[in-house]
Amino acid sequence: MNAEQQNSSETGSEAPGYDFIVVANRLPVDRVQGENGELSWRRAPGGLVTAIAPVMQESDGAWIGWHGGAGEELEPFENEGIHLIPVPLDEEDLELYYEGFSNSTLWPLYHDVIVPPEFHRTWWDSYKKVNRRFADATAKVAAHGATVWVQDYQLQLVPKLLREARPDLRIGFFNHIPFPSPGIFSQLPWRKQILEGLAGADVVGFQRTTDASNFLRCMRRFTDRTVKGSMAIPPVATEAGETTGNICRAEAHPISIDTQQVAELAHDPEIIARAKQIRQELGNPKTVLLGVDRLDYTKGIRHRLKAYGELLADGEIQVGEACMVQVASPSRENVERYQQLKDQVELMVGNLNGEHDTMEHTAIRYLHHSYPLREMIALYLAADIMLVTSLRDGMNLVAKEFVAAHTDNTGMLVLSEFTGAADQLTQSVLVNPHDIDGMKSGILRALRMDPQESARRMRRMRRHLREHNVSNWSKEFLVSLGAPLPVDTLV
Ligand code: F6P
Repeated sequence: MNAEQQNSSETGSEAPGYDFIVVANRLPVDRVQGENGELSWRRAPGGLVTAIAPVMQESDGAWIGWHGGAGEELEPFENEGIHLIPVPLDEEDLELYYEGFSNSTLWPLYHDVIVPPEFHRTWWDSYKKVNRRFADATAKVAAHGATVWVQDYQLQLVPKLLREARPDLRIGFFNHIPFPSPGIFSQLPWRKQILEGLAGADVVGFQRTTDASNFLRCMRRFTDRTVKGSMAIPPVATEAGETTGNICRAEAHPISIDTQQVAELAHDPEIIARAKQIRQELGNPKTVLLGVDRLDYTKGIRHRLKAYGELLADGEIQVGEACMVQVASPSRENVERYQQLKDQVELMVGNLNGEHDTMEHTAIRYLHHSYPLREMIALYLAADIMLVTSLRDGMNLVAKEFVAAHTDNTGMLVLSEFTGAADQLTQSVLVNPHDIDGMKSGILRALRMDPQESARRMRRMRRHLREHNVSNWSKEFLVSLGAPLPVDTLV
Protein backbone atom coordinates (compact mmCIF):
# COMPACT_ATOMS: atom_id res chain seq x y z
CA MET A 1 0.00 0.00 0.00
CA ASN A 2 1.44 3.39 -0.86
CA ALA A 3 1.43 6.29 1.57
CA GLU A 4 -1.66 7.92 0.09
CA GLN A 5 -3.66 4.67 0.27
CA GLN A 6 -2.46 4.03 3.81
CA ASN A 7 -3.47 7.52 4.93
CA SER A 8 -6.87 7.51 3.34
CA SER A 9 -7.75 4.09 4.73
CA GLU A 10 -6.67 5.18 8.19
CA THR A 11 -8.76 8.34 8.09
CA GLY A 12 -11.72 6.57 6.50
CA SER A 13 -11.80 9.14 3.67
CA GLU A 14 -12.45 8.14 0.03
CA ALA A 15 -9.45 5.91 -0.67
CA PRO A 16 -7.98 5.66 -4.14
CA GLY A 17 -7.45 2.02 -3.10
CA TYR A 18 -6.52 -1.04 -5.12
CA ASP A 19 -8.15 -1.92 -8.45
CA PHE A 20 -7.55 -5.64 -8.09
CA ILE A 21 -7.69 -7.59 -4.85
CA VAL A 22 -7.32 -11.28 -4.12
CA VAL A 23 -8.79 -12.41 -0.80
CA ALA A 24 -7.71 -15.82 0.49
CA ASN A 25 -7.40 -17.48 3.88
CA ARG A 26 -3.62 -17.45 3.55
CA LEU A 27 -1.22 -14.83 2.20
CA PRO A 28 1.00 -16.28 -0.54
CA VAL A 29 4.17 -16.04 1.58
CA ASP A 30 5.96 -18.12 4.20
CA ARG A 31 8.00 -16.59 6.98
CA VAL A 32 11.57 -17.87 6.96
CA GLN A 33 14.31 -17.50 9.51
CA GLY A 34 17.83 -16.77 8.24
CA GLU A 35 21.03 -18.22 9.70
CA ASN A 36 21.39 -15.28 12.08
CA GLY A 37 17.82 -15.50 13.23
CA GLU A 38 16.57 -12.67 11.00
CA LEU A 39 13.02 -13.08 9.69
CA SER A 40 11.99 -12.54 6.08
CA TRP A 41 9.19 -13.56 3.75
CA ARG A 42 9.46 -15.95 0.83
CA ARG A 43 6.81 -16.47 -1.84
CA ALA A 44 4.92 -19.67 -1.00
CA PRO A 45 4.90 -22.39 -3.66
CA GLY A 46 1.58 -22.67 -5.46
CA GLY A 47 -0.03 -21.92 -8.76
CA LEU A 48 -2.45 -19.18 -7.77
CA VAL A 49 0.11 -16.53 -6.92
CA THR A 50 2.31 -17.40 -9.90
CA ALA A 51 -0.74 -17.18 -12.13
CA ILE A 52 -1.95 -13.81 -11.03
CA ALA A 53 1.31 -12.12 -10.07
CA PRO A 54 1.58 -10.41 -13.51
CA VAL A 55 -1.93 -8.91 -13.22
CA MET A 56 -1.21 -7.94 -9.63
CA GLN A 57 1.95 -6.12 -10.65
CA GLU A 58 0.41 -4.43 -13.72
CA SER A 59 -2.71 -3.29 -11.91
CA ASP A 60 -1.00 -2.45 -8.61
CA GLY A 61 -3.09 -5.12 -6.90
CA ALA A 62 -3.19 -6.39 -3.33
CA TRP A 63 -3.60 -9.77 -1.62
CA ILE A 64 -5.53 -9.97 1.65
CA GLY A 65 -5.02 -13.00 3.91
CA TRP A 66 -3.73 -14.54 7.10
CA HIS A 67 0.07 -14.68 7.43
CA GLY A 68 0.19 -18.00 9.28
CA GLY A 69 0.97 -16.95 12.89
CA ALA A 70 -1.43 -16.77 15.84
CA GLY A 71 -2.49 -13.54 17.51
CA GLU A 72 -0.06 -11.24 15.70
CA GLU A 73 -1.19 -7.99 14.10
CA LEU A 74 1.11 -7.11 11.21
CA GLU A 75 1.20 -3.95 9.11
CA PRO A 76 0.69 -4.29 5.34
CA PHE A 77 3.96 -5.08 3.56
CA GLU A 78 5.29 -5.85 0.12
CA ASN A 79 6.88 -9.00 -1.29
CA GLU A 80 8.13 -9.41 -4.87
CA GLY A 81 6.06 -6.49 -6.07
CA ILE A 82 2.79 -7.64 -4.46
CA HIS A 83 1.06 -5.64 -1.73
CA LEU A 84 0.16 -7.95 1.14
CA ILE A 85 -2.48 -7.02 3.70
CA PRO A 86 -2.46 -9.36 6.72
CA VAL A 87 -5.71 -10.28 8.48
CA PRO A 88 -4.98 -11.46 12.05
CA LEU A 89 -6.29 -14.74 13.47
CA ASP A 90 -5.89 -15.45 17.17
CA GLU A 91 -5.74 -18.85 18.91
CA GLU A 92 -9.50 -18.97 19.31
CA ASP A 93 -10.12 -18.11 15.62
CA LEU A 94 -7.73 -20.89 14.65
CA GLU A 95 -9.53 -23.41 16.82
CA LEU A 96 -13.09 -22.46 15.90
CA TYR A 97 -12.97 -20.90 12.42
CA TYR A 98 -9.97 -22.69 10.83
CA GLU A 99 -9.65 -26.11 12.52
CA GLY A 100 -13.34 -26.19 13.44
CA PHE A 101 -15.82 -24.87 10.88
CA SER A 102 -13.48 -24.77 7.85
CA ASN A 103 -11.67 -28.06 8.35
CA SER A 104 -13.93 -30.22 10.51
CA THR A 105 -17.34 -29.10 9.16
CA LEU A 106 -16.98 -27.85 5.58
CA TRP A 107 -13.95 -29.88 4.47
CA PRO A 108 -15.42 -33.34 5.24
CA LEU A 109 -18.92 -32.25 4.13
CA TYR A 110 -17.64 -31.06 0.76
CA HIS A 111 -15.51 -34.20 0.33
CA ASP A 112 -18.36 -36.72 0.27
CA VAL A 113 -18.46 -37.08 4.11
CA ILE A 114 -15.43 -39.42 4.01
CA VAL A 115 -15.31 -38.70 7.74
CA PRO A 116 -18.42 -37.37 9.52
CA PRO A 117 -18.60 -33.56 9.55
CA GLU A 118 -19.18 -31.96 12.92
CA PHE A 119 -21.72 -29.18 13.37
CA HIS A 120 -21.15 -26.75 16.24
CA ARG A 121 -22.82 -23.37 16.66
CA THR A 122 -19.72 -21.87 18.28
CA TRP A 123 -17.70 -22.81 15.18
CA TRP A 124 -20.32 -21.23 12.91
CA ASP A 125 -20.30 -18.01 14.98
CA SER A 126 -16.54 -17.81 14.64
CA TYR A 127 -16.74 -18.47 10.86
CA LYS A 128 -19.18 -15.56 10.51
CA LYS A 129 -16.97 -13.30 12.64
CA VAL A 130 -13.78 -14.08 10.72
CA ASN A 131 -15.50 -13.80 7.31
CA ARG A 132 -16.70 -10.34 8.34
CA ARG A 133 -13.15 -9.40 9.31
CA PHE A 134 -11.89 -10.37 5.84
CA ALA A 135 -14.80 -8.51 4.17
CA ASP A 136 -14.17 -5.37 6.23
CA ALA A 137 -10.45 -5.43 5.47
CA THR A 138 -11.29 -5.67 1.76
CA ALA A 139 -14.00 -3.01 1.74
CA LYS A 140 -11.56 -0.62 3.36
CA VAL A 141 -8.85 -0.80 0.69
CA ALA A 142 -10.74 -1.48 -2.57
CA ALA A 143 -10.83 1.34 -5.14
CA HIS A 144 -14.20 2.40 -6.54
CA GLY A 145 -15.35 -0.28 -9.04
CA ALA A 146 -12.43 -2.57 -8.19
CA THR A 147 -12.35 -6.28 -9.02
CA VAL A 148 -12.19 -8.55 -5.97
CA TRP A 149 -11.46 -12.25 -6.33
CA VAL A 150 -12.30 -14.29 -3.21
CA GLN A 151 -10.78 -17.77 -2.87
CA ASP A 152 -12.12 -20.95 -1.39
CA TYR A 153 -14.38 -22.54 1.19
CA GLN A 154 -12.99 -20.70 4.22
CA LEU A 155 -14.47 -17.42 2.95
CA GLN A 156 -17.87 -18.24 1.48
CA LEU A 157 -19.68 -15.44 3.31
CA VAL A 158 -17.32 -12.73 2.06
CA PRO A 159 -19.00 -12.08 -1.34
CA LYS A 160 -22.36 -11.11 0.21
CA LEU A 161 -20.82 -9.12 3.08
CA LEU A 162 -18.64 -7.27 0.63
CA ARG A 163 -21.49 -6.51 -1.76
CA GLU A 164 -23.54 -5.08 1.10
CA ALA A 165 -20.66 -2.82 2.13
CA ARG A 166 -19.45 -1.97 -1.37
CA PRO A 167 -22.09 -2.44 -4.12
CA ASP A 168 -19.72 -0.78 -6.62
CA LEU A 169 -17.33 -3.78 -6.64
CA ARG A 170 -17.07 -6.57 -9.19
CA ILE A 171 -16.84 -9.76 -7.12
CA GLY A 172 -15.63 -13.20 -8.17
CA PHE A 173 -15.34 -16.33 -6.05
CA PHE A 174 -13.45 -19.54 -6.79
CA ASN A 175 -14.11 -22.77 -4.90
CA HIS A 176 -10.94 -24.89 -5.02
CA ILE A 177 -12.54 -27.97 -3.48
CA PRO A 178 -15.54 -30.03 -4.65
CA PHE A 179 -19.07 -28.74 -4.13
CA PRO A 180 -21.40 -31.47 -2.80
CA SER A 181 -24.74 -32.64 -4.15
CA PRO A 182 -27.91 -31.26 -2.50
CA GLY A 183 -28.40 -34.56 -0.61
CA ILE A 184 -25.11 -34.10 1.25
CA PHE A 185 -25.20 -30.29 1.43
CA SER A 186 -28.63 -30.45 3.06
CA GLN A 187 -26.99 -31.69 6.29
CA LEU A 188 -25.47 -28.26 6.91
CA PRO A 189 -27.61 -26.33 9.42
CA TRP A 190 -26.43 -23.06 7.83
CA ARG A 191 -26.85 -24.15 4.20
CA LYS A 192 -29.02 -21.16 3.22
CA GLN A 193 -26.62 -18.60 4.69
CA ILE A 194 -23.63 -20.18 2.94
CA LEU A 195 -25.42 -20.21 -0.43
CA GLU A 196 -26.56 -16.62 -0.01
CA GLY A 197 -23.03 -15.67 0.98
CA LEU A 198 -21.67 -17.12 -2.26
CA ALA A 199 -24.46 -15.62 -4.35
CA GLY A 200 -23.09 -12.17 -3.50
CA ALA A 201 -20.48 -12.90 -6.20
CA ASP A 202 -21.07 -12.05 -9.86
CA VAL A 203 -19.34 -15.29 -10.87
CA VAL A 204 -18.71 -18.36 -8.73
CA GLY A 205 -16.08 -20.61 -10.30
CA PHE A 206 -15.75 -24.35 -9.70
CA GLN A 207 -13.25 -27.03 -10.71
CA ARG A 208 -15.75 -29.30 -12.50
CA THR A 209 -19.08 -28.86 -14.28
CA THR A 210 -20.52 -31.30 -11.72
CA ASP A 211 -19.57 -28.91 -8.90
CA ALA A 212 -21.21 -25.96 -10.69
CA SER A 213 -24.38 -27.94 -11.29
CA ASN A 214 -24.44 -29.19 -7.67
CA PHE A 215 -24.22 -25.56 -6.54
CA LEU A 216 -27.09 -24.50 -8.83
CA ARG A 217 -29.21 -27.43 -7.67
CA CYS A 218 -28.57 -26.41 -4.04
CA MET A 219 -29.46 -22.79 -4.90
CA ARG A 220 -32.76 -23.91 -6.41
CA ARG A 221 -33.56 -26.14 -3.45
CA PHE A 222 -32.45 -24.09 -0.46
CA THR A 223 -32.78 -20.40 -1.44
CA ASP A 224 -35.42 -18.09 -2.95
CA ARG A 225 -33.42 -17.68 -6.12
CA THR A 226 -34.58 -18.90 -9.52
CA VAL A 227 -32.04 -20.87 -11.51
CA LYS A 228 -31.93 -20.33 -15.27
CA GLY A 229 -29.05 -21.98 -17.15
CA SER A 230 -25.93 -21.03 -15.26
CA MET A 231 -27.60 -18.10 -13.46
CA ALA A 232 -29.06 -17.87 -9.95
CA ILE A 233 -31.47 -14.93 -10.10
CA PRO A 234 -32.76 -13.21 -6.95
CA PRO A 235 -36.54 -12.97 -6.39
CA VAL A 236 -38.58 -10.12 -7.92
CA ALA A 237 -38.99 -7.55 -5.19
CA THR A 238 -40.54 -4.39 -6.65
CA GLU A 239 -43.88 -3.70 -8.34
CA ALA A 240 -42.01 -2.77 -11.50
CA GLY A 241 -40.77 -6.36 -11.57
CA GLU A 242 -37.20 -5.53 -10.62
CA THR A 243 -35.05 -7.92 -8.71
CA THR A 244 -33.07 -6.88 -5.68
CA GLY A 245 -29.54 -8.08 -5.50
CA ASN A 246 -27.20 -9.36 -8.11
CA ILE A 247 -27.43 -12.20 -10.55
CA CYS A 248 -24.82 -14.83 -9.77
CA ARG A 249 -23.38 -17.09 -12.49
CA ALA A 250 -21.88 -20.52 -11.74
CA GLU A 251 -19.18 -21.76 -14.09
CA ALA A 252 -16.54 -24.49 -14.30
CA HIS A 253 -12.96 -23.24 -14.61
CA PRO A 254 -10.58 -26.14 -13.89
CA ILE A 255 -7.37 -24.86 -12.33
CA SER A 256 -4.01 -25.92 -13.71
CA ILE A 257 -0.25 -25.55 -13.20
CA ASP A 258 2.56 -23.43 -14.60
CA THR A 259 3.30 -26.09 -17.22
CA GLN A 260 6.23 -24.25 -18.73
CA GLN A 261 7.95 -23.67 -15.40
CA VAL A 262 7.64 -27.37 -14.52
CA ALA A 263 9.00 -28.39 -17.93
CA GLU A 264 11.91 -25.96 -17.62
CA LEU A 265 12.81 -27.26 -14.17
CA ALA A 266 12.66 -30.79 -15.54
CA HIS A 267 15.48 -29.82 -17.93
CA ASP A 268 17.63 -28.26 -15.19
CA PRO A 269 20.88 -30.33 -15.03
CA GLU A 270 20.99 -30.08 -11.22
CA ILE A 271 17.46 -31.44 -10.89
CA ILE A 272 18.18 -34.23 -13.39
CA ALA A 273 21.28 -35.17 -11.38
CA ARG A 274 19.25 -35.13 -8.16
CA ALA A 275 16.66 -37.46 -9.75
CA LYS A 276 19.45 -39.94 -10.61
CA GLN A 277 20.79 -39.66 -7.09
CA ILE A 278 17.34 -40.41 -5.62
CA ARG A 279 17.10 -43.61 -7.68
CA GLN A 280 20.58 -44.63 -6.62
CA GLU A 281 19.76 -44.02 -2.98
CA LEU A 282 16.73 -46.25 -3.37
CA GLY A 283 19.05 -49.03 -4.62
CA ASN A 284 18.37 -48.50 -8.35
CA PRO A 285 15.12 -50.46 -8.51
CA LYS A 286 13.58 -51.20 -11.90
CA THR A 287 10.41 -49.34 -10.96
CA VAL A 288 9.83 -46.43 -8.59
CA LEU A 289 6.22 -45.83 -7.60
CA LEU A 290 5.47 -42.43 -6.08
CA GLY A 291 2.74 -40.91 -3.95
CA VAL A 292 2.82 -37.22 -2.98
CA ASP A 293 0.04 -35.87 -0.82
CA ARG A 294 -0.82 -33.65 2.06
CA LEU A 295 -1.45 -36.09 4.90
CA ASP A 296 -5.23 -35.84 4.49
CA TYR A 297 -7.95 -38.52 4.68
CA THR A 298 -9.34 -37.38 1.32
CA LYS A 299 -6.18 -38.54 -0.48
CA GLY A 300 -6.82 -42.30 -0.25
CA ILE A 301 -3.32 -43.02 1.13
CA ARG A 302 -4.50 -46.02 3.17
CA HIS A 303 -6.32 -47.50 0.15
CA ARG A 304 -3.15 -47.08 -1.92
CA LEU A 305 -0.97 -48.74 0.71
CA LYS A 306 -3.41 -51.61 0.97
CA ALA A 307 -3.33 -52.20 -2.79
CA TYR A 308 0.48 -51.99 -2.88
CA GLY A 309 0.82 -54.31 0.14
CA GLU A 310 -1.42 -56.91 -1.52
CA LEU A 311 0.58 -56.72 -4.75
CA LEU A 312 3.73 -57.44 -2.70
CA ALA A 313 2.03 -60.27 -0.81
CA ASP A 314 0.68 -61.77 -4.08
CA GLY A 315 4.22 -61.75 -5.51
CA GLU A 316 3.14 -59.50 -8.40
CA ILE A 317 5.69 -56.92 -7.30
CA GLN A 318 9.05 -57.75 -5.67
CA VAL A 319 10.87 -55.58 -3.19
CA GLY A 320 14.19 -54.65 -4.73
CA GLU A 321 12.75 -54.65 -8.22
CA ALA A 322 10.24 -52.01 -7.15
CA CYS A 323 10.15 -49.43 -4.42
CA MET A 324 7.40 -47.05 -3.40
CA VAL A 325 8.13 -43.55 -2.16
CA GLN A 326 5.33 -41.91 -0.19
CA VAL A 327 5.70 -38.22 0.60
CA ALA A 328 3.06 -37.18 3.13
CA SER A 329 3.40 -33.51 3.94
CA PRO A 330 2.23 -32.45 7.40
CA SER A 331 -1.17 -30.74 7.37
CA ARG A 332 -3.76 -29.44 9.89
CA GLU A 333 -1.92 -31.24 12.67
CA ASN A 334 -4.17 -29.95 15.46
CA VAL A 335 -7.25 -31.60 13.95
CA GLU A 336 -7.97 -34.98 15.55
CA ARG A 337 -8.89 -36.79 12.32
CA TYR A 338 -5.55 -35.80 10.83
CA GLN A 339 -3.71 -37.10 13.91
CA GLN A 340 -5.61 -40.39 13.66
CA LEU A 341 -4.78 -40.70 9.97
CA LYS A 342 -1.07 -40.12 10.67
CA ASP A 343 -1.08 -42.96 13.20
CA GLN A 344 -2.95 -45.28 10.82
CA VAL A 345 -0.68 -44.55 7.85
CA GLU A 346 2.47 -44.93 9.93
CA LEU A 347 1.24 -48.23 11.35
CA MET A 348 0.51 -49.52 7.84
CA VAL A 349 3.91 -48.41 6.54
CA GLY A 350 5.62 -50.03 9.54
CA ASN A 351 3.73 -53.30 9.01
CA LEU A 352 4.42 -53.39 5.29
CA ASN A 353 8.11 -52.67 5.69
CA GLY A 354 8.40 -55.16 8.56
CA GLU A 355 6.78 -57.80 6.38
CA HIS A 356 8.57 -57.17 3.08
CA ASP A 357 11.86 -55.31 3.61
CA THR A 358 15.18 -57.05 3.07
CA MET A 359 18.54 -55.98 4.51
CA GLU A 360 19.23 -54.19 1.23
CA HIS A 361 15.86 -52.91 0.11
CA THR A 362 12.77 -51.29 1.48
CA ALA A 363 9.17 -51.68 0.33
CA ILE A 364 8.13 -48.12 1.12
CA ARG A 365 10.22 -45.06 1.82
CA TYR A 366 7.88 -42.86 3.86
CA LEU A 367 8.69 -39.14 4.20
CA HIS A 368 6.62 -36.96 6.50
CA HIS A 369 7.96 -33.67 5.14
CA SER A 370 7.20 -30.85 2.74
CA TYR A 371 9.69 -30.23 -0.04
CA PRO A 372 10.43 -27.26 -2.26
CA LEU A 373 9.30 -27.44 -5.89
CA ARG A 374 12.80 -28.29 -7.20
CA GLU A 375 12.99 -31.41 -5.02
CA MET A 376 9.44 -32.33 -6.03
CA ILE A 377 10.38 -32.17 -9.70
CA ALA A 378 13.42 -34.38 -9.02
CA LEU A 379 11.10 -36.88 -7.32
CA TYR A 380 8.68 -36.83 -10.27
CA LEU A 381 11.60 -37.45 -12.64
CA ALA A 382 12.90 -40.27 -10.45
CA ALA A 383 9.50 -42.00 -10.52
CA ASP A 384 8.06 -44.32 -13.14
CA ILE A 385 4.53 -44.60 -11.82
CA MET A 386 2.69 -41.83 -10.02
CA LEU A 387 -0.15 -42.93 -7.76
CA VAL A 388 -2.94 -40.38 -7.15
CA THR A 389 -5.75 -42.29 -5.47
CA SER A 390 -7.87 -39.61 -3.77
CA LEU A 391 -11.31 -40.59 -2.53
CA ARG A 392 -12.40 -37.07 -3.48
CA ASP A 393 -10.25 -34.18 -4.67
CA GLY A 394 -11.18 -30.78 -6.11
CA MET A 395 -8.45 -31.00 -8.75
CA ASN A 396 -5.08 -32.54 -7.69
CA LEU A 397 -2.21 -30.55 -9.13
CA VAL A 398 0.41 -33.18 -8.24
CA ALA A 399 -1.02 -35.37 -11.02
CA LYS A 400 -0.61 -32.50 -13.49
CA GLU A 401 2.92 -31.69 -12.30
CA PHE A 402 4.05 -35.31 -12.71
CA VAL A 403 2.81 -35.42 -16.30
CA ALA A 404 4.28 -32.00 -17.16
CA ALA A 405 7.69 -32.95 -15.68
CA HIS A 406 8.02 -36.06 -17.90
CA THR A 407 8.92 -34.10 -21.02
CA ASP A 408 10.42 -37.27 -22.57
CA ASN A 409 6.97 -38.91 -22.29
CA THR A 410 8.20 -41.71 -20.02
CA GLY A 411 6.26 -42.83 -16.96
CA MET A 412 2.57 -43.33 -16.33
CA LEU A 413 -0.04 -41.83 -14.05
CA VAL A 414 -2.53 -43.94 -12.09
CA LEU A 415 -5.33 -41.50 -11.28
CA SER A 416 -8.48 -41.69 -9.20
CA GLU A 417 -11.68 -40.99 -11.10
CA PHE A 418 -12.80 -38.92 -8.11
CA THR A 419 -10.33 -36.10 -8.78
CA GLY A 420 -11.09 -33.00 -10.82
CA ALA A 421 -7.93 -33.84 -12.81
CA ALA A 422 -9.58 -37.04 -14.11
CA ASP A 423 -11.84 -34.92 -16.33
CA GLN A 424 -8.77 -33.65 -18.15
CA LEU A 425 -6.05 -36.32 -17.82
CA THR A 426 -8.19 -38.92 -19.53
CA GLN A 427 -5.18 -40.79 -20.94
CA SER A 428 -4.02 -41.81 -17.47
CA VAL A 429 -4.93 -45.19 -15.97
CA LEU A 430 -8.15 -44.25 -14.21
CA VAL A 431 -9.05 -46.18 -11.07
CA ASN A 432 -11.73 -46.31 -8.38
CA PRO A 433 -9.73 -46.25 -5.11
CA HIS A 434 -12.55 -47.98 -3.20
CA ASP A 435 -12.09 -50.99 -5.48
CA ILE A 436 -8.81 -52.46 -4.18
CA ASP A 437 -8.70 -55.22 -6.81
CA GLY A 438 -9.39 -52.66 -9.55
CA MET A 439 -6.66 -50.44 -8.19
CA LYS A 440 -4.20 -53.39 -8.11
CA SER A 441 -4.99 -54.15 -11.77
CA GLY A 442 -4.59 -50.45 -12.61
CA ILE A 443 -1.15 -50.32 -11.00
CA LEU A 444 -0.05 -53.48 -12.83
CA ARG A 445 -1.45 -52.13 -16.08
CA ALA A 446 0.59 -48.94 -15.70
CA LEU A 447 3.66 -50.95 -14.72
CA ARG A 448 3.45 -53.29 -17.68
CA MET A 449 2.22 -50.81 -20.29
CA ASP A 450 3.97 -50.95 -23.65
CA PRO A 451 6.36 -47.93 -23.67
CA GLN A 452 4.99 -46.77 -27.02
CA GLU A 453 1.48 -46.69 -25.67
CA SER A 454 2.45 -44.89 -22.46
CA ALA A 455 4.49 -42.35 -24.48
CA ARG A 456 1.48 -41.67 -26.71
CA ARG A 457 -0.74 -41.16 -23.66
CA MET A 458 1.76 -38.95 -21.83
CA ARG A 459 2.28 -36.83 -24.97
CA ARG A 460 -1.45 -36.19 -25.28
CA MET A 461 -1.79 -35.27 -21.62
CA ARG A 462 1.22 -32.93 -21.81
CA ARG A 463 -0.28 -31.23 -24.86
CA HIS A 464 -3.45 -30.64 -22.87
CA LEU A 465 -1.43 -29.11 -20.01
CA ARG A 466 0.48 -26.83 -22.39
CA GLU A 467 -2.82 -25.56 -23.78
CA HIS A 468 -4.50 -25.26 -20.38
CA ASN A 469 -2.01 -23.78 -17.95
CA VAL A 470 -2.71 -21.78 -14.82
CA SER A 471 -2.43 -18.44 -16.63
CA ASN A 472 -5.24 -19.46 -18.98
CA TRP A 473 -7.25 -20.45 -15.94
CA SER A 474 -7.04 -17.06 -14.24
CA LYS A 475 -7.38 -15.20 -17.52
CA GLU A 476 -10.54 -17.07 -18.47
CA PHE A 477 -12.06 -16.52 -15.04
CA LEU A 478 -11.29 -12.79 -15.00
CA VAL A 479 -12.55 -12.32 -18.56
CA SER A 480 -15.78 -14.08 -17.65
CA LEU A 481 -16.07 -11.80 -14.62
CA GLY A 482 -15.71 -8.86 -17.00
CA ALA A 483 -12.76 -7.52 -15.05
CA PRO A 484 -11.25 -4.45 -16.74
CA LEU A 485 -7.74 -5.64 -15.93
CA PRO A 486 -4.60 -6.13 -18.00
CA VAL A 487 -5.37 -9.85 -18.35
CA ASP A 488 -3.29 -9.94 -21.56
CA THR A 489 -0.24 -9.88 -19.31
CA LEU A 490 -1.22 -13.41 -18.27
CA VAL A 491 -0.32 -15.24 -21.48
O1 F6P B 1 -7.26 -27.54 -1.38
C1 F6P B 1 -7.72 -26.55 -0.55
C2 F6P B 1 -6.61 -25.90 0.26
O2 F6P B 1 -7.12 -24.86 1.04
C3 F6P B 1 -5.47 -25.41 -0.60
O3 F6P B 1 -5.72 -24.14 -1.12
C4 F6P B 1 -4.30 -25.49 0.32
O4 F6P B 1 -3.11 -25.62 -0.36
C5 F6P B 1 -4.61 -26.72 1.13
O5 F6P B 1 -6.02 -26.85 1.13
C6 F6P B 1 -4.03 -26.67 2.54
O6 F6P B 1 -4.74 -25.79 3.29
P1 F6P B 1 -4.38 -25.22 4.73
O7 F6P B 1 -3.03 -25.71 5.12
O8 F6P B 1 -4.42 -23.74 4.57
O9 F6P B 1 -5.45 -25.73 5.61
